[in-house]
Amino acid sequence: MSILVVKPLFRLPLIYIYTMINTIPITLALAQPVYIYSHCVDTENFTLNSTYETNLDYALSALPTTNSGLGFFNFSTREVNSIALCRGDVNPDVCSSCLNDSIVNLRKLCPYQKEALWFYEYCLLQYSNNTLLTYPQEKDYFYQFNPNITTDLDRFNGVLLPLMDYLIGIAAAGGPLLKFAYGNRTDPSLVTIYGLVQCAPYLTEQECSECLKDEVSRIGLNDNGKIGGKIVLLTCNFRFETYPFVNQSSVDSPPPPFRSSLPPGM
Ligand SMILES: *[C@@H]1O[C@H](CO)[C@@H](O)[C@H](O)[C@H]1NC(C)=O
Ligand SMILES: *[C@@H]1O[C@H](CO)[C@@H](O)[C@H](O)[C@H]1NC(C)=O
Ligand SMILES: *[C@@H]1O[C@H](CO)[C@@H](O)[C@H](O)[C@H]1NC(C)=O
Ligand SMILES: *[C@@H]1O[C@H](CO)[C@@H](O)[C@H](O)[C@H]1NC(C)=O
Ligand SMILES: *[C@@H]1O[C@H](CO)[C@@H](O)[C@H](O)[C@H]1NC(C)=O
Ligand SMILES: *[C@@H]1O[C@H](CO)[C@@H](O)[C@H](O)[C@H]1NC(C)=O
Ligand SMILES: *[C@@H]1O[C@H](CO)[C@@H](O)[C@H](O)[C@H]1NC(C)=O
Ligand SMILES: *[C@@H]1O[C@H](CO)[C@@H](O)[C@H](O)[C@H]1NC(C)=O
Repeated sequence: MSILVVKPLFRLPLIYIYTMINTIPITLALAQPVYIYSHCVDTENFTLNSTYETNLDYALSALPTTNSGLGFFNFSTREVNSIALCRGDVNPDVCSSCLNDSIVNLRKLCPYQKEALWFYEYCLLQYSNNTLLTYPQEKDYFYQFNPNITTDLDRFNGVLLPLMDYLIGIAAAGGPLLKFAYGNRTDPSLVTIYGLVQCAPYLTEQECSECLKDEVSRIGLNDNGKIGGKIVLLTCNFRFETYPFVNQSSVDSPPPPFRSSLPPGM
């Protein structure tokens, strides 16, 4: 694993949040967004009613109209950059309303901050006065793991790690619109693990693979043997559970084309 260092947009302590992850499969039809994380970067503020605020609000009103086709959004004005990524299995309406909710909530949460991010289970949003379409971007990872541990670490990892490797290969090769893969693998005497991986689609195949491999290697830091969890960056994220959580019906049917319309004058 190479250590990549660019000027980090912000630095947080590594966040370890061990919450109770629902073991009952979520009702996927519910569009109610599941919140996971948000952060206002306090080092770069703007003043109320400034040009920056006008530009920010303009960017965030335009962002939802920039869907590149399969759930990736980016919009920049002179000072403000904004990006968003929907999980690969959510349908366009869920994606769109998730993004709308993120925008409204993040502006409320971070009224003065030039840079902020909001993570829902189904969509990730970030804006900043700094460039965002870069890799590597942040050095700060959101971790969330099920506290329960497998009864057989070697066999568990013997299912989990090859599954992740396999999914990383598929997602990384996914092309410029969608880098997403999901699947499951079973050890009949122990467990079935369901996994999902995704990169922001602007990453190259190699960057996506590297980003995800780095994240997966971080399971070993403190979370070896945990029976479920996720690590999330804007650039890439993974999740695994011992129950299915991907919206199979949505990915099985060919995705309906996203409606994309630009606001007048653009
Ligand atoms: C952990 O395992 C215990 C005992 O099997 C169970 O009651 C509990 O719900 C589990 N917790 C999670 C977060 O899965
Ligand atoms: C930005 O605003 C936040 C919230 O009001 C404040 O805590 C922080 O100190 C401010 N940062 C700077 C650099 O002024
Ligand atoms: C910002 O503009 C709004 C409406 O134009 C006004 O009500 C508010 O007092 C202004 N706030 C500041 C801090 O200037
Ligand atoms: C799951 O897929 C079904 C069928 O395409 C869709 O109606 C539903 O909204 C999807 N749920 C999410 C969260 O995308
Ligand atoms: C998102 O917000 C835009 C503008 O406010 C609105 O036109 C659109 O219908 C909203 N989409 C959803 C899915 O709520
Ligand atoms: C973003 O804003 C901060 C503080 O206001 C400034 O130091 C930084 O140079 C800005 N970045 C860009 C790319 O202009
Ligand atoms: C598990 O994976 C197999 C193929 O590897 C697939 O046929 C099956 O639908 C998957 N199950 C779920 C719930 O994703
Ligand atoms: C970001 O948006 C610009 C136009 O606003 C577009 O030209 C560019 O291709 C987009 N980049 C990505 C990675 O989607």
